[in-house]
Amino acid sequence: MSQNANAETAQQYKALEARFDRAAKLYDATYGQPDEQGHGNLLLGWLRDRHLAVLRDVMPERALLLEIGSGTGEEALILAREGYSVLGIDISPVMVRQAQTKAAVHGLSRSATFRTLPAGRLAALDERGPFQGAYASLGTLNTEPDLAGMARGLHALLVPGAPFVATMMSRHCLYEILHYLVRFKPGRIMRRGPDWHEARAGTGGVDAPVKFYSPRAFAAAIAPYFTVESVQALPLWLPPVHMHDLYRERQAHFAQREGWDRRMRTWPAFRAWGDHFIMVLRQNPDAAAPEQDAAAPPDTSTEEPS
Ligand SMILES: C[S@@+](CC[C@H](N)C(=O)[O-])C[C@H]1O[C@@H](n2cnc3c(N)ncnc32)[C@H](O)[C@@H]1O
Repeated sequence: MSQNANAETAQQYKALEARFDRAAKLYDATYGQPDEQGHGNLLLGWLRDRHLAVLRDVMPERALLLEIGSGTGEEALILAREGYSVLGIDISPVMVRQAQTKAAVHGLSRSATFRTLPAGRLAALDERGPFQGAYASLGTLNTEPDLAGMARGLHALLVPGAPFVATMMSRHCLYEILHYLVRFKPGRIMRRGPDWHEARAGTGGVDAPVKFYSPRAFAAAIAPYFTVESVQALPLWLPPVHMHDLYRERQAHFAQREGWDRRMRTWPAFRAWGDHFIMVLRQNPDAAAPEQDAAAPPDTSTEEPS
């Protein structure tokens, strides 16, 4: 990476850090797992459950896992309770501190640990694993400016052939398009461009510069380090995350739609048309060993030991 590009990336990391730091305090109350007091977010809870089901399916039992964009540790702590060991990295030190506090409160500080680090700087991670699997959920990587650097760094941290599960916000969301077209409000369809633009980033209710991907474009961005095993829409026939109020108001209706979702989310014609897609990839043992860019060493200034 040139020095200019490196400086731009470092600047983008600073902006992301500030936005997610601000969002961290209210994150669990607004986007955490739903609880009896009515806190949390039902639709996001559904997405997390679906994502966790895929992880349990592909990750070896009791494996050492790396989570990219661990937020307040919601998924890491669920997996740690099930016998996995998880190291979560996140660009936001405030998110990381909250995850560490929750791990301590639940007596899981040994099996769930957290560090502040942007995904694109994984090569600088102090813990070398090797990890038996990795995941990045709910659109974390849509805000990462250096996907190639992320892929190179992650490749070196994983055992050969290890699974990597990435959930990305899609370029096209069929539900959103149909919903607004039948109401004659095409202007309300969210812009999901392949270029950097300000939009709702991931599921954390944070506006930040993001890029939307088709499954093909994302696979190309992290090739040759990872090869695609499967893709499915997440969700296909439920509203996108930013319409979670609609999901809460019409739960019975959407419970019926889940059947359609289950049947159709892996169909080739539909799997790129959900709000997100889940992609299961494998570390490619034949990919070239990661190279360090000697001219411009990675800027690790946003990293803090924790
Ligand atoms: C959707 S949220 C957290 C998801 C979490 N797994 C959960 O269940 O709530 C995404 C997280 O990714 C972090 N993030 C965003 N861009 C990142 C990047 N480029 N590198 C590392 N973390 C990033 C944000 O700070 C945020 O905490």
